[in-house]
Amino acid sequence: MQDTWEALERECQQCRECSLCQTRKKMAFGAGNRRAEIMLVGEGPGANEDEQGIPFVGKAGQLLDDMLAIIGLDRSKVYIANIVKCRPPGNRDPLNVEQDACIGYLYRQIALLRPKIIVCLGRIAAMRLIDSKFRITKDHGVWFDVDGARLMAMYHPSALLRDESKKPETFDDLKALEREIQRICERTPVGWRTLAGKGRGPAN
Ligand code: URA
Repeated sequence: MQDTWEALERECQQCRECSLCQTRKKMAFGAGNRRAEIMLVGEGPGANEDEQGIPFVGKAGQLLDDMLAIIGLDRSKVYIANIVKCRPPGNRDPLNVEQDACIGYLYRQIALLRPKIIVCLGRIAAMRLIDSKFRITKDHGVWFDVDGARLMAMYHPSALLRDESKKPETFDDLKALEREIQRICERTPVGWRTLAGKGRGPAN
């Protein structure tokens, strides 16, 4: 039977495949545009996401919104999800068993969305989706072809909140993302194209 977003979300609501279900308040399924050409994948919900059931709504989420705005993106143009959908207690890294239990749901989201570009936010997502040996300090900003999509990782917004010195490199990664969107995405205006039709034209 053909998969649907609604069936998948219902399954995730009822999921008891790992012990995170015992401590979660709300499962954070995903947010944004289900027709987006670009998908962002983080690690797992934090306290705010656990309260609201929506990915990236805390401080890291605010920074993520600011990062997207630099290249003219917002949540209406992307889809955001995480490697695990329930909060690891104390915001620890999700364990391998928890990732293994949850990753199938993310693969189904990817299959439903069929994004042209997937941006991994941080090491955990990159190690899962790009390469288990991924080194975020060395490999961020590099493009990989995986199953017909273009994948790239950048520093997790929480890492940027902890260490501002990583921001210039992340700016470069965002500009690389902008160029790739301009090259391969047909329905996602970024950069100058978001300004088209706004403001006055040249005085005649
Ligand atoms: N960090 C993540 O990786 N995901 C969220 O949804 C929030 C914070």
